[in-house]
Amino acid sequence: MAKISTIGILTSGGDAPGMNAAIRAVTRAAIFNGWKVKGIYRGYEGLINNEIKDFTSESVSNTIQRGGTVLKTARSDEFMTVEGRQKAYDNMKANGIDALIVIGGNGSLAGAQVFAQEHDVPCIGLPGTIDNDLYGTDSTIGYDTALNTIVECVDKIRDTATSHDRIFFVEVMGRDAGFLAQNSAIAAGAEAAIIPEDQTDVDQLGQFISRGFRKSKNSSIVIVSESKKDGGAMYYANRVRNEYPQYDVRVTILGHLQRGGKPSAVDRILASRLGVAAIEALNEGQRNVMIGISNDRIVYVPFSKAIKIDKPIDKELINVLNVLSI
Ligand code: F6P
Repeated sequence: MAKISTIGILTSGGDAPGMNAAIRAVTRAAIFNGWKVKGIYRGYEGLINNEIKDFTSESVSNTIQRGGTVLKTARSDEFMTVEGRQKAYDNMKANGIDALIVIGGNGSLAGAQVFAQEHDVPCIGLPGTIDNDLYGTDSTIGYDTALNTIVECVDKIRDTATSHDRIFFVEVMGRDAGFLAQNSAIAAGAEAAIIPEDQTDVDQLGQFISRGFRKSKNSSIVIVSESKKDGGAMYYANRVRNEYPQYDVRVTILGHLQRGGKPSAVDRILASRLGVAAIEALNEGQRNVMIGISNDRIVYVPFSKAIKIDKPIDKELINVLNVLSI
């Protein structure tokens, strides 16, 4: 196995709070290990365009508390091509990079897997996405912060909803997964969550909301996962509005504010642990795995599993919301 003396690090895909904490941890753990570090800017796009700088311990000073990614990020179409990956490989070699640490979500780790196979490059992935949709890890870097951001927003929406006796449909991110929607609904005391992992009967939902108003509730909040391909929050709001014209219905789409902000302590600690573990894994000879956390222990998840297997949502969470929203 070829000796490693220099690693390259990049962030790719949607940014997530805690990516900077991960960059910092990888950089410092590598330097601690006696290796050199190269920061690759704008993800795979930067590898193709040779946007690469030497990273020192100071390069990552004063970054653990900052949202976004100091390395910047991109979704690279060129890296999807054989020619693009060849350019990326040539730049990697020209910069003396022996191994790559990729921080990102599903698409980014899928890119790392193809690159590793094609060019026999040691790659280690860190799960960095607010969506929490990577199989084999209990949480991804950024998920906890985004969840807290959503809950803070929904608490505010509840104030105005209650004051006006209104129904709000709040759309949240998550790509094809309902983790953010389901768990923010529980944490914010929402009346219902509409997620891709479960069926939603709109007639039943309307009746349920209506019953709540007749009993005692003077507002209702339904969290809708963006992954619902039938039109999201606007679609469900219109259905309820048409069938119950007596209710005042509003829609809020939280959008990209869910991705910003200071990372929570939970995300900073997770990113720090995963970053250090990534360097230990490379040192041990691990290749082409994502570093995850399961039952509070570090685990190595082969790329093939992390990106190909759907991460199931715990059905107990659906039950908890149903029981508590009566
Ligand atoms: O994967 C993170 C994520 O924020 C998803 O939740 C969302 O669907 C997507 O990225 C949005 O991507 P973009 O910032 O490119 O619009």
